[in-house]
Amino acid sequence: MTKVKLAGEKATLLPTLYGRALDSQSPDSILHDTMAYDAVQQIEVDFSTVGLRRGDDTAIALRARCLDDWAREFLAAHPECVVLHLGCGLDTRVYRIDPGPGVRWFDVDYPEVIELRGQLFPDRDGCTAIGASVTDPMWLAEIKGDLPVLVVAEGLFMYLREDEGKDLVRRVLDHFPSGQFVFDGLSRRGTKLQKLNKAVQAAKATVHWGFDSCEELEAIDSRLRCVSSMSAFDLDNDRLPTGFRMTAKVSKVFTGMRNLAVFYRMDFQPSASG
Ligand SMILES: C[S@@+](CC[C@H](N)C(=O)[O-])C[C@H]1O[C@@H](n2cnc3c(N)ncnc32)[C@H](O)[C@@H]1O
Repeated sequence: MTKVKLAGEKATLLPTLYGRALDSQSPDSILHDTMAYDAVQQIEVDFSTVGLRRGDDTAIALRARCLDDWAREFLAAHPECVVLHLGCGLDTRVYRIDPGPGVRWFDVDYPEVIELRGQLFPDRDGCTAIGASVTDPMWLAEIKGDLPVLVVAEGLFMYLREDEGKDLVRRVLDHFPSGQFVFDGLSRRGTKLQKLNKAVQAAKATVHWGFDSCEELEAIDSRLRCVSSMSAFDLDNDRLPTGFRMTAKVSKVFTGMRNLAVFYRMDFQPSASG
């Protein structure tokens, strides 16, 4: 068994890992992430304390599948590209997606998390793990910016401070010729409500950055364009508990609820002025 000592935002990778592991054991699994299940068996953590509620495993698997599908679409259109999987935690996305030989994939998270990944998951050609804060400019400077980039950031941006998050986005825009960001985000109200979120509480993590619309994200830089956005309440599945599905129905009427948690897909191209 591998000992795990993670605190704060780093510990929030445990409920998402556990959610994918539980989903993989369901007869109608959404993600089939059996590597997540194997990882859960190998680490010494009392998963009953990580704050997962009934139905969270389904919601977590649906969120991951949405970002996987968007990532696969980008890779199909850009067989030669760079992928920055930011705040990767113990997510096995690179194994699920199985990118082709033209893809240079980077998993980025704090050093403790990357060390743990190394103990749990095998090396993979074309995939490099980087132990650093995503807000540190140094690691990106080391990556060649000659190809289009796909940035995948699942459950990350809320843990960054707004200025750090925006600086990170601009650094990526300056480093690569073109690309896409796929990520989830909380609205400002959503960040306030996270104080009630059991998984965030269990990890003793703090959320900071919330944004309310595509327009607000596009205002970070004129090169950014929102391709699509989707409320987490639109991810429907029979396995979601009735309470969640009722809330999802109500959210269709109230914008303030709809945008509590949203998936975004944003393109960037070189600016018209070059
Ligand atoms: C909710 S977990 C999500 C992990 C993974 N994306 C998933 O879906 O399972 C948040 C992750 O973001 C990472 N994280 C938060 N702030 C970070 C930062 N400044 N630099 C690197 N990683 C960060 C945490 O260590 C953690 O792995």
